Amino acid sequence: MLITRYTQATAVLEDSGVVPPPVPQDAEPGTLAWLRARVSRFASGPVHAERRRAVVELLASFDPAELRVRARALAGVPADEVAARSFGVDQVAAVSAAASGYLSGETSPEADAAVRELLPLGIPMITVLLQAHASTAALIANARAHDDGVTPIEDLLHETLRHDPPLKRTRRVGVEIDLVAANRDPDVFPDPDRFDPSRGRTPHLTFGHGVRPCPAAAHALAIAAGYLEGNRS
Ligand code: HEM
Repeated sequence: MLITRYTQATAVLEDSGVVPPPVPQDAEPGTLAWLRARVSRFASGPVHAERRRAVVELLASFDPAELRVRARALAGVPADEVAARSFGVDQVAAVSAAASGYLSGETSPEADAAVRELLPLGIPMITVLLQAHASTAALIANARAHDDGVTPIEDLLHETLRHDPPLKRTRRVGVEIDLVAANRDPDVFPDPDRFDPSRGRTPHLTFGHGVRPCPAAAHALAIAAGYLEGNRS
């Protein structure tokens, strides 16, 4: 079933009985498939809660204000390296290779080798890096496409998140939620197709909602804001 309306989307995301599609648990240790069986993102119930707790604890050790300063200093580097480098990790090629199949499950020898290279960082940190990689780069690219150089960066980012979510759909068993459509539900967002940064912060679903929303919204916003600021000046 495809969900496009806002209230239906929030109801599904708040229902702890509606879980993400499970991933195979029997993969060879150290591979991307093995990693996917060990992260919070594809787990459910108490296992998800425990893994999520470990990631949230790790994220608490990174101050968003500090991440913003670091990202500002990265103005010259490619946007898809900014998240990892802001978190202090320089293995950007490995992060990119491992992230390429993290959501889809499409594995490759390169992705498996990258996971092995990153393993010493620990699974919570790898989770942070792989979740951050493409979504933060896409947020930056989408915001740049609307950047007139004068709109306050926070307003630009909030409206970019609503109007152009980097992750366009999210899946649960038997259900797919169309985040683009939900973020443009006219019952919630007046004149929804108009890009209007003066809306400020809106209740968009781009960082998820309910049982398992993105635990790093503040971190992602700080990194994107710092990088955009650095490139404006
Ligand atoms: C610093 C950058 C980021 C980090 C460290 C991060 C981390 C995470 C983690 C660990 C999860 C899994 C949560 C769980 O299992 O309970 C997650 C979920 C999610 N993230 Fe992020 N994220 C980042 C950036 C972003 C960005 C830029 C977006 C979109 C604009 C985003 C959207 C989401 C969404 C929608 C989910 C939930 C997916 C679902 O409900 O199925 N994240 N994120």
